[in-house]
Amino acid sequence: MKIITSNPGKFNEYYAFFKEIGLEAEWIRMKYPEIQADTTEEVVIESMNFLTSKGYKDFIVDDSGIFIDALNGFPGVYSSYVYKTIGLSGILKLLNDYENRGAKFVTVIGLELGGNTHLFKGEVRGTISFEPQGTGGFGYDPIFIPEGMNKTFAEMSIEEKNSISHRGRAMNSLKEFLIKKVI
Ligand code: IMP
Repeated sequence: MKIITSNPGKFNEYYAFFKEIGLEAEWIRMKYPEIQADTTEEVVIESMNFLTSKGYKDFIVDDSGIFIDALNGFPGVYSSYVYKTIGLSGILKLLNDYENRGAKFVTVIGLELGGNTHLFKGEVRGTISFEPQGTGGFGYDPIFIPEGMNKTFAEMSIEEKNSISHRGRAMNSLKEFLIKKVI
């Protein structure tokens, strides 16, 4: 299965997941234009349209974002820009003014297979930590504590993160779909 992403952290999570179900993930390491849209689904569909127009076939793309309750869902679809600009410390500073540290992580996987487009969404709720913790993962992982846990994604192995994360949940829906297709 071809995974198109410029992000090694994301690819590693797909690689581990596909390995567990006996499939191989092939990394197409490239950036593609991500349009600014109101929803993660729209971003994925536009990315897929762009890639298919360039001749790519049978691939997976992934768009994810963190939605913080006290900030009315910000940074959401702007997660990448916010990470590059104010970063984790900027987000932590913004949250100093609020008691509510609730947030959710969302992933939408876009699968292009045999000329058809399929979307798989996964979400996980959690809280934003008071300071970055852990050295694993990528992006917002050091400040996101998933529900029911007392450590951040950055303090988990890839397998542990996949077993509870937004991306792991979206990947499980993708797996169900692939199983049905094969049967
Ligand atoms: P995108 O899906 O590549 O557009 O990611 C948006 C932003 O969220 C980037 O800054 C990523 O580093 C970050 N991000 C995406 N997925 C995850 C994740 O699983 N954990 C932490 N940060 C993530």
